[in-house]
Amino acid sequence: FKVPTPTNEPIYSYAPGTKERALLKNALVEARSKEIDIPMYIGGKEVTTKNKKTISPPHNHKHKLGEFSYGDTTHVKQAIDAALAAKNDWENLAWEHRAAIFLKAADLIATKYRYELNAATMLCQSKNAFQAEIDSACEMIDFLRFNVSYMAEIYQQQPPISPSGVWNRLEQRPLEGFIFALTPFNFTAIAGNLPTSCAMMGNVVVWKPADTQVYSANVLMKIFKEAGVPDGVINLIYADGPEVGEVVFNHPDFAGIHFTGSTAVFQHIWKTIGNNIHKYKSYPRIVGETGGKDFILVHPSADWQAAVTGIVRGAFEYQGQKCSAASRTYIPKSLWSAMKEKMLADVASFKMGGTEDFSNFVNAVIDEKSFNKLAKYLDQAKKDKDSEIICGGNYDKTEGYFIEPTIILTSNPKYTTMCEELFGPVLTIYVYEDDAFEATLKLVDETSPYALTGAVFAQDRYAIEQASVALRNAAGNFYINDKCTGAVVGQQPFGGARGSGTNDKAGAMVNLLRWVSPRTIKETF
Ligand code: NAD
Ligand code: ALA
Repeated sequence: FKVPTPTNEPIYSYAPGTKERALLKNALVEARSKEIDIPMYIGGKEVTTKNKKTISPPHNHKHKLGEFSYGDTTHVKQAIDAALAAKNDWENLAWEHRAAIFLKAADLIATKYRYELNAATMLCQSKNAFQAEIDSACEMIDFLRFNVSYMAEIYQQQPPISPSGVWNRLEQRPLEGFIFALTPFNFTAIAGNLPTSCAMMGNVVVWKPADTQVYSANVLMKIFKEAGVPDGVINLIYADGPEVGEVVFNHPDFAGIHFTGSTAVFQHIWKTIGNNIHKYKSYPRIVGETGGKDFILVHPSADWQAAVTGIVRGAFEYQGQKCSAASRTYIPKSLWSAMKEKMLADVASFKMGGTEDFSNFVNAVIDEKSFNKLAKYLDQAKKDKDSEIICGGNYDKTEGYFIEPTIILTSNPKYTTMCEELFGPVLTIYVYEDDAFEATLKLVDETSPYALTGAVFAQDRYAIEQASVALRNAAGNFYINDKCTGAVVGQQPFGGARGSGTNDKAGAMVNLLRWVSPRTIKETF
């Protein structure tokens, strides 16, 4: 069988006057018009509980959009049982049928649920229309279609060689047990990709999203069901992370975790799995994409105007809450004055506010915890002698969790906000002497424990070469003359090493290979 050759889903602009803009506006009004009650999905059944949590837009937190049922350890056990009960039929279903289900899911998003899914992401994760479109519509569709094509390649790869009288085969078996997909708030597409990429390879999954992404997770689950994912293959539960972990990581059928989230949580999970290793049938697959402290390095030869555009977009799109967001920048002294002027003008042009007003570029940060954490960093930067806030620095949570896009200039290349992941619209800049490029490369490499994304802006070929060699291990996604965000499925497989994860590239064949366990068969005639 040949599966369709994937191409990237075209991005709608939602420009004024377009039909798409009107349809998305309608979806937002519709979502606002009624209070929703979101169930969990266990064994294909909708499960509700008396314990409810409220859903509100981060940019308008006094408005209640609805609530969702919060589960406990009983629901985790039920989800695991339902997954294991579904396992036999699912793993024995020919891969072409699994492919058809996930291709249909992609088509459903593209043609039927695009606006509903984007509206859910805009309202509950506070993404503007463009950010929602490139995430919950385009990237989600791309993950499904490209993964199906990689899956087909895996199942149709050349068999091992067989001498006369022998037939050697390689069987790609699903893992023995269930997979736990534990997903973050910041990308609807990542949340949807983690359970589907495992399920595609014949595995059964328990999926727990972040509490702040439940709304769009619920829309995705409805789509997966409509596309034909059988009952029990993907079970969606909402509950306290550590409580879920307690059940999952003590279960003998735990076969692997597909995680995206913070480094601290992943390290905790890894240790827990290590402590329980004797309880499992097989060594579990541990795949995790984690935090970042992503850099942009500007060389004196750079096209500095392009660099400014890359820096401000990389830093402030989605309020700096992309794992790939630019959060530390190194600029040569000779370019600083001109770059500063343009940067301040660009940032001043960004409108901040709710996502339903499409002219707002910057929206709210995800929740009060994140708001308070960012406010603390800003207060500290106002006091510290080695830092100066050159724009922004204000915050207000009266209506929504708004943090102004902020630029901190520091004279200390190891200043706190140059090293730690803040996950908000805060960029720190260090200005270096033009003749210290080599020393600056060393700083970039050594300043943070992460290695997710990074960019260099330079026209000088030797400088580009020098940077790409010196920073070989500083980023899993390295950009030359472009911002460090916006990896596209099928074009720039995404993921980082060091403190940023196991680098099993989301939306790539290497990732799908983590969800199978090959069996070699030799038959002698
Ligand atoms: P998080 O680590 O707080 O949460 C991720 C998931 O883990 C959530 O579902 C959460 O409920 C759960 N969880 C939290 N503590 C747990 C525990 N002790 N046991 C079990 N489960 C637990 O992350 P987040 O705030 O949702 O997402 C932001 C983080 O994700 C940032 O650090 C960002 O860099 C990272 N991220 C990385 C990538 C990447 O590809 N490298 C992509 C997106 C986000
Ligand atoms: N695809 C997202 C980015 O690169 C994660 O920003």
